Parts: sequence; C-alpha cells; structure tokens
Amino acid sequence: MTPTILQRLADVVGAAHVITDDDTLAGYLADWTGRWTGVADAVVRPRTTEEVAAVITLCAADGVSVCVQGGNTGLVGGSVPPAAGDSPTLVTIVLSTARMTDLGDVDATGRCVGAQAGATVAAIDRHAASHGLRFGIDLAARESATAGGVVATNAGGIRMIRHGNTRSQVLGIEAVLADGRILRRWSPLIKDNVGYDLPGLLAGSEGTLAVITEVLFALVTPPAATTVAVLAIDRVAATTELIAAASRRGLIVEAAEIMTAAGIDLVHEYGARRPVAEPAPFTFLIEVSGSGTVDEELFAAIEGIDGVRGAVAEPGPATALWAARETHTESIARSTTTPVVKLDVSVPIRALPEAFDRFTVVPADLGVQGRPILFGHVGDGNIHVNYLDVPCADEHRVTEAVFAVVADLGGSISAEHGIGRAKAAWIGLGRTDVDIVAMRTVKTALDPQNLLNPGVLFG
Ligand code: FAD
Ligand code: MLT
Ligand code: ZN
Repeated sequence: MTPTILQRLADVVGAAHVITDDDTLAGYLADWTGRWTGVADAVVRPRTTEEVAAVITLCAADGVSVCVQGGNTGLVGGSVPPAAGDSPTLVTIVLSTARMTDLGDVDATGRCVGAQAGATVAAIDRHAASHGLRFGIDLAARESATAGGVVATNAGGIRMIRHGNTRSQVLGIEAVLADGRILRRWSPLIKDNVGYDLPGLLAGSEGTLAVITEVLFALVTPPAATTVAVLAIDRVAATTELIAAASRRGLIVEAAEIMTAAGIDLVHEYGARRPVAEPAPFTFLIEVSGSGTVDEELFAAIEGIDGVRGAVAEPGPATALWAARETHTESIARSTTTPVVKLDVSVPIRALPEAFDRFTVVPADLGVQGRPILFGHVGDGNIHVNYLDVPCADEHRVTEAVFAVVADLGGSISAEHGIGRAKAAWIGLGRTDVDIVAMRTVKTALDPQNLLNPGVLFG
C-alpha cells in the first residue's frame, strides 16, 4: 500500500487510528478459533458513519479491499482478511468498528433503540434493561459480539427459540455501500412494505455487501419471571417432547439447550459445576416463563416424559446452571490440540436423535482421530458439532462426512454462524445453482470491484 493512501486514511480517522505496527495488527488478523489468520496493510478504526464513508470512498478509488471486523468472535473466518497466499496481490485493510459504540435513546413506547455498529450485545441489552426492556438477541459472546457483527452474520443464539434470529430484530439500518455512499433506511414502523427488504438483505451478508454503521433494533418485553431447569436425559427426543409438553401447558419456552456427557465432563474439567448430579448421555437445559405457577407446570410437564431424571430448577437468570452450557465454546478451544473442527448445522426436528447418533461416530467411522463434543440450540434443530484433536490433514474429510449426513437428513450446513471462509467451498450444498447465481448478481451489483470481504461466502 502506498504511503499516500495510508496518509489519506489517517487524515480521515486520525493517525492514531491507522494501525500498522505488526504486534498490534496481529490481534486483528487472527480469528477467535485460531484457525484463520490473514494479512492486511493496516487496521483503520473510524468513529462515525461519515468517517466510514470517507474510508470506503478512498479504498474504492484505489482498489483496496476491506475486511470489516466487529468483536472478532465469528467462528467461520469471515472477520479476518485472506491469508497472503490466497490473494498475493491484494491490498487490504481491516476496518474495525471498535470505536463506534454509541447507543441512541431507547424508545420505550415504540420498543426500539438505535446502536452504532460496534456497540456490544451486552451493552445494548443493559441499555434496554435500564428502560424495562431487553435485547432479543443473546449469546455467550455477548460482551464482545457487536451490533454490526450479529446483523452481518444473522446470529441466532440462545433466545432464538423465543424471539427469532437477528434479522427479525432489525427495524432499520444504516450502511456504507462499496462506493462510499450512505444507505439509510431508518424507520421504527412495524409495517412498512415499500420495495425490497434491504435491511433484511444485509442481515447475513457477512461483510460482503456493505459496511453496517448503525442498526435500529426492535426490543422485547422481558417475562416477569422465568424458571430454568436442567435435566439428565437418556434420549435426545425427550428434549423436543418436553418443549411440546411445556407449550401445551401454556408455558413459554425462552431457551432450550442440549449438551452431551462428553461436553459436561469437559466444562467441569475447566471449572464449571456439574448442573445435575446424575450421569446421563445428555443434559437438557430448558428455561420457561408464564403466568401462575410456572415451576409446578414445568415439573408436571417433565413428569410425563420418559427417560428424564434428576431435574434441578432455579428461578432465572440461574447463571450457575447456565454456566455449564455457556462455557462449552471456550473449554473446547482450550482443550483441543489442533484447531477445532467446528461445524454448525441444523436438521429437521424429527431427525435430531439420528443426527446425534451419526455425528458422534464420524471420526471413528473414518478411522480418524477426533473427540466429538456436540451441543446446541435443540429447539431450533441446531447442533454445534465439534471435533477436537483432529489432525489438520483430516479436517476436510471430517467436514465432508458431516455435511453428507446433513444433506441426507435434509439439514443446513450453516444454522447460525454463517459461511465465512470456512464453508465457502460447500455453499453449493446449501443453495441451488440458480440461487447462487442470483446471490452473486446482488454481490456484483453492490460491490462490482469485489472489495468487501473477498473470499467470504463465495470463496
Ligand atoms: P465479527 O466476528 O467481527 O465478524 C463476523 C462477520 O460479520 C464477518 O464476516 C465480518 O466481516 C462481518 N461484520 C462485522 N461487523 C460488520 C459490520 N459493521 N458491517 C458489515 N459486516 C460486518 N453465534 C451465533 O449465531 N449464536 C451463538 O449462540 C453464538 N455463540 C457464540 C459463543 C461464543 C463463546 C463465541 C466465541 C461465538 C459465538 N457465536 C455465536 C459466533 C459469533 O459471536 C457471532 O457470529 C457474532 O454475530 C459475531 O459478532 P462480531 O461482532 O464478533 O463479528
Ligand atoms: C453457542 O451456541 O455457544 C455457539 O454458537 C458457539 C459455538 O458453536 O461454539
Ligand atoms: Zn450457537
């Protein structure tokens, strides 16, 4: 990159916010899993939408590609630039939203709030809570994951069963297009059918269509009280049977998460309390709300389900009970001796028991080393399939074998984490040729020079 463009970028954001020294750069170039490391000439940290627009205008004029980064908690390699070998001639910056953390006033009547792209999920939620409302998106990475990141990945998370995915929380959006123009569709209206749903399109676009600078999020009314129960279960199907039974009793299911014995053993090794004393092949966490005697209704629902033992329950938020579930990702990252093979798939609800059986034996069936740890948002049919200690040379085969099972069961190769770089080679398993051509047409129309996150989504 020529000194001229670095100087011009510094004129826009201030010299202190154009980072070029290798040590500081390194922190922005490796992803959360340690699996993906990229190369960039600088990290640029704008503060305002106007600064983002000026940065992108300069990059567009000089053909500089831009990797947008929020909290860098993404798990598919989309938040870091390509490695040197991938694009030898590429001139790249990382555009970090770390300084864009403003929150607007909460509209308590319209139940919405504006957030700059770099505001964290936890900050948005705390802000909403101070007005008696909550943010409908929640995930274990809440203290780092950002507004821009959750929209760009269309994150799911632990409240998706109750409130839907991130796309369904987006009322309005402001974004800088690849040529530097600012697109602002910003209305708290609940009903507003004028043309294409561009905010919905940017949700899940993984930094490939525009830089999201601000989001107008819908907020939710929290339940008066919740009960969190954790149960030892012998059968995967008991989870969905209990979800249905609880719903029939008028309870609202706020979260429904499954873990396996291997996962519970692992998180316990790293300091989490075992939530239930009884050993079991699976552990199920269900959080419910409702009016009246919520605990009694929940225990009555539990009584009718076969293969359920040792239920313990606490009033929400029950963070100690949740800890075993929420520490899975970090414990896996700490324990694995090679970058974890981390796959995030969904299957039809009826296929969940078969999926657990088949995913568990993938490495053994291939004759490959690999410790399976499965967990996930079972009420959404979403299983996080992790294999630890897989030799790097076998990673591709293991991934292919899992995706073959997914295809066989009619599932999706990406439930909530996105495609990023990790799954770009397999996008054809999730979409038809015509669908991919239509998506590429949108990409080319909005980013004709392919400057925004090249290599992500389409490879
Ligand atoms: P980053 O990692 O920085 O970026 C992710 C993608 O979004 C990249 O492609 C990036 O280019 C793009 N992007 C970021 N900001 C912008 C912007 N302003 N404009 C345009 N593009 C942008 N995910 C779930 O869905 N559900 C979970 O339950 C969940 N739990 C997690 C738990 C842990 C412990 C961890 C580490 C991760 C978890 N994730 C989960 C994955 C991750 O947190 C989400 O994908 C999150 O949405 C990423 O947000 P981020 O700000 O860190 O984005
Ligand atoms: C979660 O639900 O905890 C995540 O999506 C993170 C993961 O898959 O490890
Ligand atoms: Zn998840």
